[in-house]
Amino acid sequence: MIEVHDLSKRYGAKTAVDHLTFSVQPGRITGFLGPNGAGKSTTMRLILGLDRPQSGTATIDGVRYADLREPLRKVGALLEARAVHTGRSAYNHLLCLAQSQGLPRKRVDEALALVGLTEVAKKRAGGFSLGMGQRLGIAAALLGDPQVLILDEPVNGLDPEGVLWIRNLMKALAAAGKTIFVSSHLMSEMAQTADHLVVIGRGALIADESVDAFIARSSDHSVLVRTPQPSQLAKELERTPAEGEADGVTVATAEDGALIVRGMTAQEIGEKAAAARVVLHELTPQRASLEEAFMEMTRGSVEYHADSDPQAGAVGGIGGGIGDAVAPGFAAPAAAPPGAVPAGAAPPTAAPSDNEAEPAEPAVPTSGSEAAE
Ligand SMILES: Nc1ncnc2c1ncn2[C@@H]1O[C@H](COP(=O)(O)OP(=O)(O)OP(=O)(O)O)[C@@H](O)[C@H]1O
Ligand SMILES: [Mg+2]
Repeated sequence: MIEVHDLSKRYGAKTAVDHLTFSVQPGRITGFLGPNGAGKSTTMRLILGLDRPQSGTATIDGVRYADLREPLRKVGALLEARAVHTGRSAYNHLLCLAQSQGLPRKRVDEALALVGLTEVAKKRAGGFSLGMGQRLGIAAALLGDPQVLILDEPVNGLDPEGVLWIRNLMKALAAAGKTIFVSSHLMSEMAQTADHLVVIGRGALIADESVDAFIARSSDHSVLVRTPQPSQLAKELERTPAEGEADGVTVATAEDGALIVRGMTAQEIGEKAAAARVVLHELTPQRASLEEAFMEMTRGSVEYHADSDPQAGAVGGIGGGIGDAVAPGFAAPAAAPPGAVPAGAAPPTAAPSDNEAEPAEPAVPTSGSEAAE
């Protein structure tokens, strides 16, 4: 289990992480969501002891990362910036990591096979594509068969087969009782993968709940109704004032003629229809997608907006509908902040850096543990 308590991190005047408290439980996949710059990577770095917080604690099974004796066996991490020793083969990269942690050589072969890189194991990692690099990073994270996995946007750059593979891998690991903490901007992917969500904005906690609960909190509850008597039903429903509700009941007509009813449950609509002897062909509660719920819940926390219409320049205002919200993954600040740690990092035995701009000697491109050799 990962426990984060009252964690705060500032870089100069910028508060990257703001009194965060949450825990990540074993046996399920916890998605870590938030707009660009929300503080996800920083939180992960703090958990991994790669940065020093101004306040608060982060522990893994009750122990700070820096105090873990064989970190790779306990925690596997893939952080967003990718950097391996470019002249080194994938095999040697993993072998160095394995040897630094007293892991047997056969784990290297197993990890390479697990991520599908066996055929290119002897090739220079510097020549790898984005997706191959991600796979190598994931192999490094899995090397020690750790109990806890921390993955920062692991799906980035993976092909569809790779996306499916990592989804199934995470599910299998969670089912085996491991703790999986994974960030992503791909909402449809998260909706299929995550059981639980931790959502942050501007460094602060927005939600810590199941995916279903998060979506249910979104305000868009509508019911789709198909009937051969749409205008009659619309009249029946619209006439009904919803008790204590300012908005009452609204009925809109979709392009295909279906009615979209807001302000009433499917049960209430069915009963009204029966009382008015209106035939129903379909009555389906609509659920907001995770993307819609995310947009709604984080709207006030989005720092980096793109123009919704690039043609319109500054004229086409921002605000209002979902379409105006920034597309996740877009308009990012520098993708890898200074001090970011390479993919597959099995962080540090070295003292954490607290630098604002320059990384303190990330001269060892793979991990601090390698430096311990
Ligand atoms: N080493 C650093 N020095 C200065 N500012 C930093 C540093 N690392 C992060 N920040 C700032 O802290 C904030 C949070 O950044 P972070 O990378 O944690 O966000 P994120 O949620 O991972 O964003 P993204 O979705 O774009 O990856 C940002 O404003 C970022 O510019
Ligand atoms: Mg990030």
